[in-house]
Amino acid sequence: MKITVIGAGNVGSTCANVIAHKELANEVILVDIKEGVAEGKSLDMWQTAPINLYDTRVKGVTNDYKATEGSEVVIITSGLPRKPGMTRDDLIATNAGIVKSVTENVAKYSPHTKIIVVSNPLDVMTYCSYLTSGFDSKRVFGMAGVLDTARYRAFLADALNTSPKEIQAVLMGGHGDTMVPLPRYTTVAGIPVTELIAKDKLDAIIDRTKNGGGEIVNLMGTSAWYAPGAAAAQMAEAIVRDQKRIFPCCVWLNGQYGLKDIYLGAPTKLGKNGIEEIIELKLNNDEMELLHKSAKAVKEVMGVLDNMNKAVAN
Ligand code: NAI
Ligand code: 2OP
Repeated sequence: MKITVIGAGNVGSTCANVIAHKELANEVILVDIKEGVAEGKSLDMWQTAPINLYDTRVKGVTNDYKATEGSEVVIITSGLPRKPGMTRDDLIATNAGIVKSVTENVAKYSPHTKIIVVSNPLDVMTYCSYLTSGFDSKRVFGMAGVLDTARYRAFLADALNTSPKEIQAVLMGGHGDTMVPLPRYTTVAGIPVTELIAKDKLDAIIDRTKNGGGEIVNLMGTSAWYAPGAAAAQMAEAIVRDQKRIFPCCVWLNGQYGLKDIYLGAPTKLGKNGIEEIIELKLNNDEMELLHKSAKAVKEVMGVLDNMNKAVAN
């Protein structure tokens, strides 16, 4: 069984490395457009196998989609990352072109695959891949919620001086400043988090989570890769092992939460068929208002992509 990762940059190579270490597939194909990069990184990873003891073959190729043929899962990380001062939305024109051309090749060589999009702006690039692939939306979804909840859970683990393993959380909405962490659905070993932390501290953690990507961009001059790479690999694991795990994913909503024709973060069940269920929480009025505000922001950027597509068609 084969998993393909497109883009051998920071996120893609980290993701391939995690997949290999967890032996999620017999073979990982790493694809990049830059000659030699995927090949070099894959060789380096394969030389880790005798040290860390795994069997998964990692093979790097330059734009050779034939090598990706029949992939069970394809993870798209190709595209520009954010630099300081840039929003995720600033990346749309360049990354839409990249995601479109990559998806065309993926759909051609792996027509039955599940596509996990990572490239930013995430919600809109997932929409772009969905439009291009012609796949059922259950097989095209985006990674953001697993990362954003991981940040939220890590900050809470610090604040409560507890293991991050104890913290479970749900977060919804777009992958941007309007994302909606949900304290009512956050627990620490089953205990509602609101019983363990003061409201002002929790509010500060929620704000830090919303700006979690920007915090790292400001520190490093480019965006994060360890947690994003691991997050995408965790989603791939849920699919190839048919785990039916519940993760917040960027999914096509078709009436759920009163929202239609939009890619947005919501709790889902992930298994061998991709998105096997979109879970509808009973949000209160305040939570629903925040979610719809986030949806409005995402819809605006989806509109930018729609206009770009119309301009090309005319
Ligand atoms: P990077 O610059 O390190 O890697 C991107 C790679 O894509 C480069 O190696 C580049 O050569 C390759 N590439 C460009 N065009 C290509 C094409 N047509 N075919 C194949 N490969 C191509 O960037 P990094 O840090 O890995 O980030 C990748 C993307 O993921 C960015 O758009 C970034 O904003 C996004 N991202 C999304 C996150 C999320 O939560 N969804 C989290 C972190 C990053
Ligand atoms: C992140 O959240 C920039 O989307 C990227 O780290």
